[in-house]
Amino acid sequence: MNQEKLLEVQNLHKSYEKDGVSAKALKGITFNVLQGELLGIMGASGSGKTTLLNCIATIIRPTSGQILLSGTSISAFDENDLAEYRGNKIGYLFQDFALLDNLTGKENILLPLSIHNTEVSEAEKKVIEIAEFLGIREVLSKFPSQMSGGQKQRVAAARCLISDPSIILADEPTGALDTKSARQLMEKLHEMNQKRGCTILMVTHDPNAASFCSRILFIQDGIIFHELRKQQPEESREDFYKRIMQVMAQMGGGSANVL
Ligand SMILES: Nc1ncnc2c1ncn2[C@@H]1O[C@H](COP(=O)(O)OP(=O)(O)OP(=O)(O)O)[C@@H](O)[C@H]1O
Ligand SMILES: [Mg+2]
Repeated sequence: MNQEKLLEVQNLHKSYEKDGVSAKALKGITFNVLQGELLGIMGASGSGKTTLLNCIATIIRPTSGQILLSGTSISAFDENDLAEYRGNKIGYLFQDFALLDNLTGKENILLPLSIHNTEVSEAEKKVIEIAEFLGIREVLSKFPSQMSGGQKQRVAAARCLISDPSIILADEPTGALDTKSARQLMEKLHEMNQKRGCTILMVTHDPNAASFCSRILFIQDGIIFHELRKQQPEESREDFYKRIMQVMAQMGGGSANVL
């Protein structure tokens, strides 16, 4: 693996102001993401995981600290750099799916490609291919309100993956999926990572999904509490899963539900 630092998160703090009260969601987070990593982020509800991804995606601004993309601070990006970063470089799979209600599944999936002016026939082919793989062909003509939670999540995944982003930010990508669909989506993300060199940051509560990662950061109350690295040469997913479960148990209760 190429060991270049793709993202550097440096001493990141984020406070939310509400009714004159300040709540600290991130309290000094520092880590690097190497080119080609499949990095997992785990931690209890409210520990700051989505806040961290939103800072990286430039959806919100950190209160202090820096995020560097290949050595350049993303807060120093001009409009063009930002558009390129948001539009072409990163793909964000949102925790709440963020589908547009008045567009069909297919139109939602095509959205990033229409922004990129991709040729229609090529775009159509890509939609069918990815919908086939994720098992959502039958919902392509439906609106989000007519889909199940798991179907919405897979449509959101298809929308994220269709433009071949070089960095994927995935917030609980398997949260609404059954075991089989979760495994299929994880296999797809793993394939994007292994075959196309796509770098992935994935928040998950699911130790099964996490066992696909090459490294996992555990976040507690806005700081990094622990780090696990899959041993090289390739530790089996089963063995890595067991170590993930041990850390989850230390963090509270031992059940997957508590994280
Ligand atoms: N827009 C906001 N305004 C005020 N407080 C917020 C806002 N967004 C998040 N918070 C608070 O910041 C903290 C971290 O929230 P965040 O959404 O990052 O947690 P999370 O780790 O993603 O949780 P979950 O696993 O439930 O998705 C929480 O205490 C939350 O209540
Ligand atoms: Mg969250």
